[in-house]
Order: sequence, then C-alpha cells, then structure tokens
Amino acid sequence: MSQTIALAGKGGTGKTTVSALLIKHLLETGKTPILAVDADPNANLNELLGVDVETTLGEIKNELRTAVPDSMARGDFIEMRLNEAIIEAEGFDLIVMGQPEGPGCYCAAHAFLSQALEKLMRHYAHVVVDNEAGMEHLSRLNMRKIDHLLVVSDASSRGVMTAGRIADLIKPLQLEVGTVWLLVNRAPAEIPEALDKYVREICAEKGMKFLGYLKESPAIFEAEIERKPLLELPSDTEVVKEAGELFEKMLKEGA
Ligand SMILES: Nc1ncnc2c1ncn2[C@@H]1O[C@H](COP(=O)(O)OP(=O)(O)OP(=O)(O)O)[C@@H](O)[C@H]1O
Ligand SMILES: [Mg+2]
Repeated sequence: MSQTIALAGKGGTGKTTVSALLIKHLLETGKTPILAVDADPNANLNELLGVDVETTLGEIKNELRTAVPDSMARGDFIEMRLNEAIIEAEGFDLIVMGQPEGPGCYCAAHAFLSQALEKLMRHYAHVVVDNEAGMEHLSRLNMRKIDHLLVVSDASSRGVMTAGRIADLIKPLQLEVGTVWLLVNRAPAEIPEALDKYVREICAEKGMKFLGYLKESPAIFEAEIERKPLLELPSDTEVVKEAGELFEKMLKEGA
C-alpha cells in the first residue's frame, strides 16, 4: 500500500522546502520507491531536488487536444506520454503538473490522465505532493485519498490561524484525508508560550494533529542563496535531523 503525503499552507511558508526534506528523509531511511509530484504551476521542487524538468503534465494535456495520432489508441498514447513525463532520479521519480489547462477543458484527456496517474501512484511506497498556496488544485489533481495532509505555517499567531482555515477548506472537497497535521516552520529557538498555547488551541478546534516545530535553519538559508539542492545537505545538519524526527512521528502515528 502506498502512502500519500500532501503539503498545504499559505504562500512562502515552506511547503516546497518541507517536501524536499521529506523526500530526503524517505530516501535516507530506505522508504522507497518515492514519487514526488510538483502540483504547483510555478514548479520549483525540482530545483530543491536537483533534477531538470523536460515535460509537464499540463503540456501533455494541451498536446492531446491536437496531437493524438489516428493510428494509436488514445489511452495508449496518453500512457506513453505520461511515462515520458516521469523524471527518473536516484531513488525517486518526479512528475510536474505544470500550468492548468486553459478555458475549455479537454475533459476526456483529463479523465484519462487522472486515471493513468492514479494507476502510476500505486507503484510507489510513498507519494509526496507539493502544492501551491490554494486548495482548489487538490481537487483538480483528482486525488481521492491522502493519508497525511501536512499544513505548513510560519511561526506566528496569524499564520497558525490561516493554517486552521486551510484545514477547514479541505472538508467540503471530495477527498478522503487520513490525518491533517500542522507543522510550524521557521520557528525560533525558544518557542513563546503564547504561540505554543495558540497552536494547540487551533489544532483542537480544527481537528489537526500538531506535528511540531521546525526551526529557522541557516543551512537552508545558505543552500537557497547558493541554489544548492536540499538533497545535498549533510544528514547530520540540524534541520535534517529535526525534520526526520517529525516525519517519523507522522508516518508512524498516522499509519
Ligand atoms: N526552516 C527554514 N529555515 C530557513 N529558511 C526556510 C525554512 N523553511 C523555508 N525557508 C525559506 O523560506 C522560503 C520559502 O520557502 P518555500 O519555497 O519552501 O515555501 P513555499 O510554501 O513552497 O512557497 P510557495 O507558496 O511560493 O510555493 C525559501 O526561501 C526557503 O529557503
Ligand atoms: Mg512552493
């Protein structure tokens, strides 16, 4: 059975960073094979993972409007193109959703592609989905089941409140979510008591489980400035160890 972990949270809170750290953790603890899905139209997960992207699913969808050869059954063609869009790296594969289709959805292609994607996901032990700030895309992805929805917040009361609202937004979506987690990112070394209290209140109110705090990390800051993939961070880097403990807790408790 594969486990799906999707990231959510308002803009710039650290969804992509946490996705990359999670993929690193899964790789290093042998929880492979892994499928990384970049569901943000402004894709940049690949940079943090250190891989290049050639084709996105959005491009394939557009192409399907015109380029399906007569001789080839549509389903086979879609599966072939989907396979071409899978970027194979060491220990993990990456698929990039890219831009959503323009007006006039080519619904047949959408349905085919969703089906093919769903089938594909079953081949992996873990699927990690990095998202954009909104929540609509999660339904657009046609994912029906998410084992862990990890909502990332900054270390502020307002940020935590927004994370709570995001947890509310999932409820009306046709999505089966196992556990909704809250992770407070870029936390200071000392957590203010008032913040900690508020975090726990919001979690209780919104039905989220509190995963923990991930500290502001100079190593991530440096990697970002030097445009170095986070996968290259040494395993004994503080943030890597800290994140690893949180991820273990998530994977165990939610299982
Ligand atoms: N724990 C951390 N310590 C230091 N810097 C961090 C940490 N987490 C994230 N950052 C930095 O914060 C910025 C935003 O992070 P990131 O791109 O992961 O956020 P995001 O939620 O994916 O943003 P977007 O909504 O634009 O997709 C980046 O410059 C990243 O390097
Ligand atoms: Mg991002």
